[in-house]
Amino acid sequence: MSKANFELRLVETPGETQGKEESPSLRALPTGGPIEVAPTVRELTPYQAVSSQAAIESSPDHQTSFKLDWNEATVAPSPRVNEAIAAYLSGDRSLNWYPQLGSTELIDALTGYTGVDADHLLVTNGSDDGLHLICSTFLDVGDEVVIPVPTYNHFMVFTRSRGARVKTVCGDDPFTQNLDEIHRAVTPDTRLLYLVSPNNPTGVVFGPDVVTDFCERYPRTLIVVDEAYFEFAQVSSIGLVRRFPNLIVTRTFSKAFGLAGLRVGYLATDPTLITGLRRIYNPKSVNTLGQVGATAALGDLDSLHEYLQEVRDSKEILRDFFEDRRVEAHITSANFVVLRMPDLPTTLQSLEDRGVYVRDRSSYPGLDGCLRMTVGTREQTRRLLARVGDLFT
Ligand SMILES: Cc1ncc(COP(=O)(O)O)c(C=O)c1O
Repeated sequence: MSKANFELRLVETPGETQGKEESPSLRALPTGGPIEVAPTVRELTPYQAVSSQAAIESSPDHQTSFKLDWNEATVAPSPRVNEAIAAYLSGDRSLNWYPQLGSTELIDALTGYTGVDADHLLVTNGSDDGLHLICSTFLDVGDEVVIPVPTYNHFMVFTRSRGARVKTVCGDDPFTQNLDEIHRAVTPDTRLLYLVSPNNPTGVVFGPDVVTDFCERYPRTLIVVDEAYFEFAQVSSIGLVRRFPNLIVTRTFSKAFGLAGLRVGYLATDPTLITGLRRIYNPKSVNTLGQVGATAALGDLDSLHEYLQEVRDSKEILRDFFEDRRVEAHITSANFVVLRMPDLPTTLQSLEDRGVYVRDRSSYPGLDGCLRMTVGTREQTRRLLARVGDLFT
């Protein structure tokens, strides 16, 4: 709060002194001018949401556009999701009540899906909400946070808003784990280490062996493993939360389950850390339809596995395609590929001119000339290559 905009004056508020021996309290009274953000937020710039959604929706042939820029699922979720939401809306429970506190039914379903007990789980409003909650709960001004890059940058906003010091680690090859570099950066005083597995955008996986090593070597450091894309790689550290009290794994329904619009995620960790997180956690932050939809999605894992197989097959089609044309293509373990193009701006423009929206990742460390493209079903991939394949010859 800046001195220029506020002055402190003694004011008496009605009722405050009635029947009590209370002295008047100090209140900050505005004296004009804009109210400034908190000092830790001052250095941050607003998140540039550059989703192609608006452009696609306003285009006359939007039905045939390819939205491949945000790694969402390229198909609708399991039909059971819509059925469950429709049944909920037509039943006698309506939307005038707050959601089920603590998402208990969804937590029940998640215990089966994750193999982790309910006291280790917390459902969040998307995994971003979980990541934000972790930073709000465990970080303070000056705390050191180590982040291997390139990665999901939004986490840095949450850390910086707490006044934490971010130490990024970048190895020579962004498509490898760069473990030596990470170990050189982490010290016993590092407060938090953020690993994304599979990493966005490189697809690098940090498996349970690596995570175990981090948890054991740095017992005073909170190890956060962001598994937003876990389903595609099927490698997880979630079971380790039973063993290590310094590990948090976050996950989401936004990617493989196709529920990005409903905003549901969850985290798994030691019950002691859950107790800490609950000091800030808002038990009504996950909306009713999100809870109903996510629970229904967990009831139809066949649908999930069909989609995962489609994405795996598509990645093989893309691998062959780009290999044949000698394009530098990183076919990741997640639902996206990274391509390095000799003339990226022209490629991006040509793709967009044909209704194909991908993400420019060339400003990320080690990714000059690179774009990231979401992978969809086999049929979608064939149609995609028929439309833009000639741009890669
Ligand atoms: C690595 C990673 N973590 C978290 C998120 C946020 O996902 P959610 O929709 O669950 O907030 C994303 C979204 O792109 C992501 O790529």
